[in-house]
Amino acid sequence: MTLEPPVLSAAPEREQAAARAEELFTASFGYRPDGVWSAPGRVNLIGEHVDYQDGLCLPMAISHRCFAAAARTPTDRIRLRSAQDSVELDVDARELKPGAVEGWPAYVAGVLWALRPHISGAAPQGMDVLIDGQVPLGAGLSSSAALECAAAEAIESLLSLGTSPLQRVRAAITAETAFAGASTGGLDQAASVLSEAGHALALDCRDFSTRPVPWDLAGQGLALLITDTRAEHSHVDGEYAARRADTERAAEALGVATLREIDPAGLEQSLAAIEDPTVRRRAHHVVTEIQRVRDTEALLATGTVREHVAELGALLDASHDSLRDDFEVTVPALDLAVDTARAAGAHGARMTGGGFGGSTIALVEADRAEAVAAAIAEAFAAAGREAPASFLALPSAGAGQDR
Ligand code: GLA
Repeated sequence: MTLEPPVLSAAPEREQAAARAEELFTASFGYRPDGVWSAPGRVNLIGEHVDYQDGLCLPMAISHRCFAAAARTPTDRIRLRSAQDSVELDVDARELKPGAVEGWPAYVAGVLWALRPHISGAAPQGMDVLIDGQVPLGAGLSSSAALECAAAEAIESLLSLGTSPLQRVRAAITAETAFAGASTGGLDQAASVLSEAGHALALDCRDFSTRPVPWDLAGQGLALLITDTRAEHSHVDGEYAARRADTERAAEALGVATLREIDPAGLEQSLAAIEDPTVRRRAHHVVTEIQRVRDTEALLATGTVREHVAELGALLDASHDSLRDDFEVTVPALDLAVDTARAAGAHGARMTGGGFGGSTIALVEADRAEAVAAAIAEAFAAAGREAPASFLALPSAGAGQDR
């Protein structure tokens, strides 16, 4: 008899992971930290590639988190170390500027830089920080947002800044776009900071207003299965920027500031004003996807997930198909995981996050989760692909202090 590895993996238990970060800090810097803070990765249930067009999204925090053990020092040096990487940073906090820091430390130093309007000029800004990132890297589960948001919580507490959670969301976005030079529409950072345990987060990207939406799948005999396809994502940044530019072109052709303003009723007729067929399809995705979020929220406002499971599953399916056909951000591994999940009995399945690799989600009967995960693993093996990693999406708390 051969022993199979478990089909479903799990995130490290939060309290133990926080204790581990504290130990790693102590071993690395030679003294105990002032505290440990953490922020989660996310999956987006629906509302993909709409945040940068003022759209609506419905993400939830997952149980994988990034931990920051940190201490204030009476200097202006910021010293960063990681449990996952040998790269270290030791710089003068007052000399931070965009482009000056590379790699993962830019996502931490950038937050300190972005928070500088809230820091009183004379106070020392020095700190030692040990990062222990437990969100799978490159899985489209927002490991970089988790890193930024854990850093923002630590900096807020250490320097007693008095910022609001939304100000920390904005600082994390600024760190990523203006300091690290990457691109994001803000969905990931909002989800990481503002999510509540047991809930999904209705997010309006016009003003980043949020509302918790009950998402108790376990109590209804359901589960949300995440599958990290481990598909290599190459050219992600360039493709993301290109899709974003297409949507901006569409808005311009339609004479609106953002595609949020386009009424989905009579869509085909409105889109006729866009000459380029590719740009037209991009706009079609954004406008219909925002409507799918409205439809999802309306269903959840009038009943449980169980009561509307077929309609909710159909919305997830439609979202994926639109991302595949109109927005063209899926890749064969994502389509294979989604098609296999559907064939294995999922109520609905879609890619989640930016695409071009990364993860899928599938809404399944709780007692079918392992079988669906196993079916995806088998399909990947048959296609000669690297084994995917599947786990359950448990709606978790947003960023905060652990110890
Ligand atoms: C990435 C970006 C987000 C969002 C998603 C797609 O995760 O960081 O801002 O645009 O892609 O929905």
